[in-house]
Amino acid sequence: MSAVFVTTAYGGPEHQQLTTREAPTPQAGEIAIEVRAAGVNPADWKRREGAFGTRGALPLALGLEASGVVTAVGEGVVGFTVGEAVLGAPARGLGAFAEHTVLKAGESVAAPDGVSFADAAALPIAGTTAYDLVHHRPLEAGATVVVLGAGGGVGRMVLQLARLRGLRTIGVASESKRALIEVEGARFVPSDAEVQQQVRELAPDGADLLIDLVGGPALRALSPVAEGPGAIVSAADADTAAEFGGTGRRRGEGTLAKLVALVREGQVDPHVVRTYPLVEAAQALVEVETGHAGGKIVLLP
Ligand SMILES: NC(=O)c1ccc[n+]([C@@H]2O[C@H](COP(=O)([O-])OP(=O)(O)OC[C@H]3O[C@@H](n4cnc5c(N)ncnc54)[C@H](OP(=O)(O)O)[C@@H]3O)[C@@H](O)[C@H]2O)c1
Repeated sequence: MSAVFVTTAYGGPEHQQLTTREAPTPQAGEIAIEVRAAGVNPADWKRREGAFGTRGALPLALGLEASGVVTAVGEGVVGFTVGEAVLGAPARGLGAFAEHTVLKAGESVAAPDGVSFADAAALPIAGTTAYDLVHHRPLEAGATVVVLGAGGGVGRMVLQLARLRGLRTIGVASESKRALIEVEGARFVPSDAEVQQQVRELAPDGADLLIDLVGGPALRALSPVAEGPGAIVSAADADTAAEFGGTGRRRGEGTLAKLVALVREGQVDPHVVRTYPLVEAAQALVEVETGHAGGKIVLLP
């Protein structure tokens, strides 16, 4: 039997538990892995609460991004071999907070040499989101990007990827994140009542792209700095972005492979700030749900 962290009902954390199941076997187009690390995302507690629907079968295995070692390949899968280190997204809702799971081969790539399993596990969801947001629209080098929620798991990678594109970055976050935002070459603006005015002082012509990782009132307050239609993209709140002519994240082609190449070259660091053993998955989720982690939280089964 193999351990897996599930929720037995849609709702609060009281329904979560570590349980066991048979190690899942891969179907066509899938690869089975022994999980070595799993990234924890806000989407995990949002799924548990039913924010993405409540029709999925229960118990629901949690965890949306993983790295590990291939134990079996399904029919029709080419390019992956047993024993190889890989990273990707779990198939069929089988979850990443587990000792064993199954990944979609088409959404997995080989883990690069020299990159830890923990760093690799931060790439399939958080990393690809950061990449797609930064490449949301064509921008000239020197264009200004404002990042709301710049000090979190996605935000820190957004700052690095924007700098690689030659973009000028302004990161909005709480004061405690100042140093980690400035170290990425960004200008820091605290997320307080004066946020719009302070961004304007640094960018009088406005933002060519406002990347939102917070949504709601914080996005509303900052949206006037976005220059023209299509200058807002949100991973957190597409509906509010749309009120101001923006959109949600659009998935790019081959994003995961492009991002992994940058991580292998040492150009992007996922900034894993804390790891937890699988038996402490509930504590890891609390830290992510609290929303001030300052980087990626990763489970190590
Ligand atoms: N659509 C997708 O595919 C996708 C994928 C991944 C993530 N997401 C979403 O993207 C968002 C960010 O994810 P994440 O993993 O980076 O979460 P995270 O690590 O919790 O980071 C969120 C950041 O927002 C900051 N924040 C909270 N309220 C703020 C405010 N009013 N003003 C400025 N900053 C504020 C938080 O810290 P401080 O306030 O302490 O600075 C934190 O650093 C989440 O909503 C997540 O669900 C979407």
